[in-house]
Amino acid sequence: MALPPILQNLKLPLIGSPLFIISNPDLVIAQCKAGIVGSFPALNARENDGDPILLDQWLTRITEELDRYNQANPDSPAAPYAVNQIVHRSNARLERDIEICVKHKVPVWITSLGARAEVNEAAHSCGGITLHDVINDRFAHKAIEKGADGLIAVSAGAGGHAGALSPLALVQEIRAWFEGPVFLSGSIATGDSLLAAQAMGADGGYMGSAFIATTEANAAEAYKQMIVDSGASDIVYSDLFTGVWGNYLKPSVAAAGMDPDNLERSDPSKMDFGSGSSKPKSWKEIWGSGQGIGAVKEVVPAADLIARITREYHAAFDRLSGQVSHYR
Ligand SMILES: Cc1cc2nc3c(=O)[nH]c(=O)nc-3n(C[C@H](O)[C@H](O)[C@H](O)COP(=O)(O)O)c2cc1C
Repeated sequence: MALPPILQNLKLPLIGSPLFIISNPDLVIAQCKAGIVGSFPALNARENDGDPILLDQWLTRITEELDRYNQANPDSPAAPYAVNQIVHRSNARLERDIEICVKHKVPVWITSLGARAEVNEAAHSCGGITLHDVINDRFAHKAIEKGADGLIAVSAGAGGHAGALSPLALVQEIRAWFEGPVFLSGSIATGDSLLAAQAMGADGGYMGSAFIATTEANAAEAYKQMIVDSGASDIVYSDLFTGVWGNYLKPSVAAAGMDPDNLERSDPSKMDFGSGSSKPKSWKEIWGSGQGIGAVKEVVPAADLIARITREYHAAFDRLSGQVSHYR
């Protein structure tokens, strides 16, 4: 089935995924100008008490800069941007943030940690579409029943909160009944992997960790460097830090004084997305990452990273069409 019109003019079938703390307007604008969907969690826009609402300011800036860019580049317009809403009961800002997103007519809404019909209705009320992230087929059914337009399939190996299923199995099960938009999340950091996501049946990819090592990302230099220096075996899957299973950089866990190979289990009742961090303060420097970062060799502007992925995607297609035609 064709993608919704808002997703039809991307230069690459890719969404730069929302990254807690890390995604900011600079990164989102760079991603959209380079032709992929840029996104950020609404919770990243966090003002001090009494200050003007930062989410409102961010959305004004993103809209104005992309409008200006589109006027100057009518033949090569920017991709749409997306805002991520954490739909968890501890997110006390959800209602306010939804109102602000409706006011700004946010084009793509990414929802995580809960499927709620009201959020989908709000997105539709201003002409937006919603993509809900899921880690298994059961949650995928629930999301579509509640009115989501599409799905982010979060497989094993994804950064942040991640699933445990193989991407092959997850996309296969979703595609058995769902024809709408599906974007695959988990360890995509090359154009080859992006093409593989499409070969599996997804419409495109959803890539996060590789964007941490960009100049625009709001991350400590040491974090960016750890992404550059690390590979798949430096990642540990644990539920200790937020109550939800996720992937983290082992060296950052070790630097916080813990043994990354012997982490205890967490207490899910401690999950809290309302207070600015879902981690206790002492764990602020436990850094999230997916398993795909072996492909990240340097910190570069986001546009350069997207240019690399684009080159690899085209080269992978050429190589693959040769390989496939051999078997026809
Ligand atoms: C540091 C970090 C923070 C993240 N924060 C969020 C978030 O706030 N909301 C969300 O929906 N997903 C979040 N994610 C998950 C990503 O959106 C996405 O699923 C993941 O990055 C894709 O896998 P990859 O990192 O291997 O590319 C986060 C991931 C990382 C690495």
